[in-house]
Amino acid sequence: MVETNYELDMSNIPNHIAIIMDGNGRWAKKRFLPRTAGHKAGVEAIREVVKYSNKIGLKYLTLYAFSTENWKRPKVEVDALMNLLVNYLRKELEELNKNNVKITAIGDISKLPQACIDELNKSFEITKSNTGVNLNLALNYGGRDDLINSFKSLGKLIKDGKLDPQEIDESSIKSNLSTSDVPDPDLVIRTSGEQRLSNFLLWDVAYSEFYFTDVLWPDFGEENLRQAIYSYQNRDRRFGGLK
Ligand code: FPP
Repeated sequence: MVETNYELDMSNIPNHIAIIMDGNGRWAKKRFLPRTAGHKAGVEAIREVVKYSNKIGLKYLTLYAFSTENWKRPKVEVDALMNLLVNYLRKELEELNKNNVKITAIGDISKLPQACIDELNKSFEITKSNTGVNLNLALNYGGRDDLINSFKSLGKLIKDGKLDPQEIDESSIKSNLSTSDVPDPDLVIRTSGEQRLSNFLLWDVAYSEFYFTDVLWPDFGEENLRQAIYSYQNRDRRFGGLK
């Protein structure tokens, strides 16, 4: 049951919400359907969440769509996820663009199938000047992988004599992550009752608020997102300081 007796403070909408969309497989299992049907239903939830995010003026929405560890899943499931991504972009790009949504990605997309890379590049190009919600897709993304790449870039700068190791600071690490253009999330949501980070945005979540819900991702929608934001708005963020 979703409570509806709460009003959002529109002056305190988080700037960046990041979501671990979990529970597609269990959603399908409950219905005696193949896991891929759960992912397909998960795309419907994405649609609703993007729409609502745009409506409330959210600036950044990062969705954990495929992790560096998800390659370990059976090939048929990996292929289905890649196909869903291609179909989603092919089908929705026009509408997303019309709604002023800007599409970006984090993670190493160069390792995705060529059809995904092509659709993603097209989506980035077409939506790059949009000023509505930034739909940031985490694809072949891993927090540790991202940190390793940042450290490699910093190592190269040091080797080339362009950076003094003593100058390494939070901003130089962040600016060499694939999240360099995305502010740290204010709110991280994970669906399906699991309460772990699963290698998501490790550097970036240092001061994020966390919201866990038992709702499975395909069942997550506008009301659930509103409830998560309501919970966020009733927290006391101190960033290590005192009120
Ligand atoms: C976790 O559920 C979900 C994923 C690993 C993939 C999320 C992808 C989508 C919702 C659709 C594809 C993405 C786009 C952007 C079109 P799970 O399979 O781990 O569920 P379980 O824990 O119940 O098995």
